[in-house]
Parts: sequence; structure tokens; C-alpha cells
Amino acid sequence: MARITASVYTSHVPAIGAALDLGKSGEPYWQPVFKGYEASKAWMQANTPDVIFLVYNDHATAFSLDMIPTFAIGCADEFQPADEGWGPRPVPVVKGHPELAAHIAHSVIQDDFDLTIVNKMDVDHGLTVPLSLMFGQPAADKFAWPCPIIPFAVNVVQYPVPSGRRCFNLGRAIRKAIASFDRPLNVQIWGTGGMSHQLQGPRAGLINREFDTAFLDQLIADPEALAKKPHIDYVREAGSEGIELVMWLVARGAMGDESSAGAPKVVHRFYHVPASNTAVGHLILENT
Ligand code: DHB
Ligand code: FE
Repeated sequence: MARITASVYTSHVPAIGAALDLGKSGEPYWQPVFKGYEASKAWMQANTPDVIFLVYNDHATAFSLDMIPTFAIGCADEFQPADEGWGPRPVPVVKGHPELAAHIAHSVIQDDFDLTIVNKMDVDHGLTVPLSLMFGQPAADKFAWPCPIIPFAVNVVQYPVPSGRRCFNLGRAIRKAIASFDRPLNVQIWGTGGMSHQLQGPRAGLINREFDTAFLDQLIADPEALAKKPHIDYVREAGSEGIELVMWLVARGAMGDESSAGAPKVVHRFYHVPASNTAVGHLILENT
């Protein structure tokens, strides 16, 4: 059977992608950010999974105000890096895993979560920047991500957005779905976005280190209690785009430590301010 071995949490700041693509990662501004991911890249090399289930949000790239799915699962063979206004990032095409994605869709929908099935979708910085942070830039002679990726988009852009509690319970349903897939796959689940940031209005530039630190502590130690935090608390304390953090609860809900061998192991934790307008947070948890 397939199983979830680890979860990865990270911010997805688009300027990080631009810094990598334009060869600026060695600059003093960016050095501390990329330093925080060096251990993660080494860990990824040693722990490359068979599939990544990547929870992220689309930023009006694949979806517009014409159509806003709350939860969308990518079931295609492949997904193109999107053009977000400066041309597509020079990163590989994302290869999907249609069989596992279809199985998860079936199981999770029968478990009463409404997913939108997506068979064609471009993927923006919300998905490609976490891949770049964890894998680095793929070499020109082997221009591919190291494993298939199932994109899972959550609407955190247009209100109403799903609650943290629903995201956490959805993670539990995804865990159950993966555990019932009849192939011995090592699967990682990633939760992306956040941490505190606000991109617009009078509070643009808001960062709340205290909130972020408490969020990381509670995500590790008591995610079920954290899942009760109402969405308005994220917006008030972590800024309008801080709501992206509910996606971390999908990944944490899929770790399933309530039902199995105890709390996951913290492999790596990192926090840095600033990167663009954003506090960067990052965590790797392994199932024990
Ligand atoms: C920034 C952060 C984001 O999460 C995003 O989607 C766009 C921009 C920023 O910090 O600039
Ligand atoms: Fe974002």
C-alpha cells in the first residue's frame, strides 16, 4: 500500500523564484533565505519520494473570478509552468500521477469532500517556488523534477475560503485515500504559502513574528487545536495573505499521528524575515 512518510511546509514567495532564475541567490539579501533550505535540499536528496501531493494556491493564474473551485485536484499527465506576466519560469514541466490522483479523488469525494477534478491546469509560483526551494534548479542535461507531483489547489484568494478545521479534516481524508492505494508508493505531502504577509491596503507589508512562531509551535504539537482558529484571526493577525497558512493544516492533517505511532519527528525548522513582503517559514516533519 502507499503511505505518507513525511510532510514539508514552506512559503512560496514569487521573488524567491525570480532570485533563483536570475542568478541572485548569492546576494546578501537572499543568502539567509537560501541558507535555511540547504539542510532541506540534502534531506530531499536522501528522501526523494515516489510522489509528492502538493497543496498550494493558485493566484488567479489557472482560475480567474470566472470560476473558483474551493479544492481542485490535478489529475492530468502533466502541468505547464504558468506565465505570470514575465514569461513562464525556466523550470521543468510538472509530471502528474493520474492513477493516484484519480484514486484520491474517488476516495475523498466518497468521504464527503467536494473536489473539483482538473484535467488541464497551468501551475504558478505557489507550486513551482516550493519545488525550486526543495530541489534546487534542475540541471540542464536532466531537465525534470525528480518525481511526479499531484497539484492540489485550495482557494484562499476569493472569499469565502475554507476553514482551517475543514482543511485539517481534508488532510485526514487524503491520508486515508493514500493508505488505500494498492501500490507501495512513498508519498510526501507538502503544505505551502504563508507565513504572515499582506500585499495590499493600508496594512501592506504586515509581518507578525509572534503569530508565526506560535503557529509553528502549535502546528507541531497540537494541530487539532490549531485547526479551530477561525479564518478572521489569520486575517487580523497574519495579514490578508496570511490566510494561505490554512493549507499547512491539510498537510498536517494527513500526518495521522492521532491514529498511529505518535507525534512526527521535526527534521528541520526555519524562519526568516523578510523575503519580499513575506515572512518565510519552513518545516519538515517525518512520520515515525
Ligand atoms: C508575495 C507573497 C505571496 O505569497 C504571493 O503569492 C505573492 C507575493 C510577496 O511577498 O511579494
Ligand atoms: Fe501567495
